[in-house]
Amino acid sequence: MTDSLEAAARAAQGRAYAPYSRYRVGAAVEADDGTVFAGCNVENASYGLTICAERAALAAAVAGGARQFRRAVVVSDSDPPAAPCGACRQVLAEFGDFEVAAVGPKRTLRWTVAELLPAAFSRAQLT
Ligand code: THU
Repeated sequence: MTDSLEAAARAAQGRAYAPYSRYRVGAAVEADDGTVFAGCNVENASYGLTICAERAALAAAVAGGARQFRRAVVVSDSDPPAAPCGACRQVLAEFGDFEVAAVGPKRTLRWTVAELLPAAFSRAQLT
C-alpha cells in the first residue's frame, strides 16, 4: 500500500541531490495535525557536510511550525532499505517517540524512535 506520507517521501527522493554516492533518499514526517513535510539527502563536495533526508524533513517541519509527529517514512532503492543513520536517530529522538518506516523495493522495515535509539541523550539530562 502506498500512502500519502510514503508518496511525499518518494517525491522528495526524486529531488535528492546525491551526485557522489548516487544513493537517493527521501523522507517525510507526518505532524500531529496531519501536515506532511518532506526532505531529501543533499550531498556536498565536502562529503561530511551532507544532509540526510530525515534531518532535512525534520528541519522543514520545524520551519513549518511542526514539532510533534505521528510517524516518519524513509524511502530508498536498496534492499535492505535505508535505516536512519545514528545522527538522524538522535535528531528524530529530539522530537519524541513515533513510528519510523524504511521503505525499499522489496520490503518495509518498521521501528519506533525509541527502538532505533534506546537510552538516547535528551533534554532529561540537561535539566
Ligand atoms: N542517507 C540518508 O539521507 N538517509 C539515510 O537514512 C541513510 C543515508 C544519505 C546520506 C548520503 O547522501 C547517502 O545517503 C549515502 O550515505
